[in-house]
Amino acid sequence: MMRKINFFILFPLFIMLLFSLSIAADSMYNVLNYGAKSDGKFDSSKAFISAWTAACASTSPATIYVPKGTYLLGNAYFNGQTCKCNAITIHIEGTLVAPSDYNVIGKSGNWIKFERVTRVSIVGGTLDGQGSGLWACKNSGKGCPKGTTYHAFYNSNNVAISGLTSQDSQMFHILFDGCNNVKLQGVKVSAPGNSPNTDGIHLQSSSDVTILNSQIGTGDDCISIGRGNSNLWLENIACGPGHGISIGSLGWDMQEPGVDNVTVKTATFTGTQNGVRVKTWARPSNGFIRNILFQHVVMNNVENPIIIDQNYCPNHEICPEQGSGIKVSDITYQDIHGTSATQVAVKFDCSKTNPCEGINLLGVKLSYKDQPAEISCVNAGGKASGLQQPTSCLQI
Ligand SMILES: *[C@@H]1O[C@H](CO)[C@@H](O)[C@H](O)[C@H]1NC(C)=O
Repeated sequence: MMRKINFFILFPLFIMLLFSLSIAADSMYNVLNYGAKSDGKFDSSKAFISAWTAACASTSPATIYVPKGTYLLGNAYFNGQTCKCNAITIHIEGTLVAPSDYNVIGKSGNWIKFERVTRVSIVGGTLDGQGSGLWACKNSGKGCPKGTTYHAFYNSNNVAISGLTSQDSQMFHILFDGCNNVKLQGVKVSAPGNSPNTDGIHLQSSSDVTILNSQIGTGDDCISIGRGNSNLWLENIACGPGHGISIGSLGWDMQEPGVDNVTVKTATFTGTQNGVRVKTWARPSNGFIRNILFQHVVMNNVENPIIIDQNYCPNHEICPEQGSGIKVSDITYQDIHGTSATQVAVKFDCSKTNPCEGINLLGVKLSYKDQPAEISCVNAGGKASGLQQPTSCLQI
């Protein structure tokens, strides 16, 4: 009996001891100790990079700590290629701001860039891109720099971001290119509805990406899914203003990796240009988009709630006669309801050379001005069951 009691008291104590040891082993790197200043005026880029270099050399898990305050950063590039550390957490309580003069970083590819990092987590923080100067320049049609993508990860694995706010980027807010095993949670992205090219999250050549519980409002796509992505899971997403969640534009190039296995589950679109969109160039290509599920989606006054557009060719680009080469197949729409801001709420405008196959409508109820909305199908094959409003026009 006595032995048992001892065990039940000692075992939790032992676990607590192990836990506190593991916390103590976590090395902490406060950016203020590396010369950063929280006054919003001093350029702290070098200090942040020094803190990264130190954390990177640590042989135990490391935390880079950014206390409350405002930190001005120019271009800040973090490379993980030679890191000894196998787990770096960047805990941000402050706000990172980009230079207000867009010329300072507007011609560079990225503002904050992570390259070849493994097991990096970013917790909290606000990124303020101060993009309004560049948007005004672009909207006035003057010659302006292209702008920089704000927060980019390249060729990285096991990246986690939670509780981050990103606002007013010059261009895309958050980008993953060539990354595996990425998890974003509780991310908030905001930019005005008329800010050009300010996509919320752009994914390219990446796999096993999960985006949960996030709220995105921008002047372009809330989430855009480019070439070469697979196994994406987007759940509990609020989008608006913006252009919706978009797979594409794909198929500009002849040789292009496709998009496979994407789930968008529980999403709300409010006042957006599109809801769930698939978009391909009307050009020859060997790419594909397949195994896509859009499930439990609410549309509030959305211009194109459900759209597949395979005839994308704006601004007099060169698009030969034969139509899009991208093969679109096995796209399921399940439980999609709400209101459309235009009469045609469901539009399948597929390629004349590669008709869409396996479109599945499983319960759709969309109205326009309190009347059932309309549907249009061109080269679109599939089937419908359950509630159909509008009634399916898919070819079986
Ligand atoms: C599709 O992706 C999800 C993750 O988003 C994964 O759990 C699932 O196994 C994938 N399915 C296939 C057939 O690869």
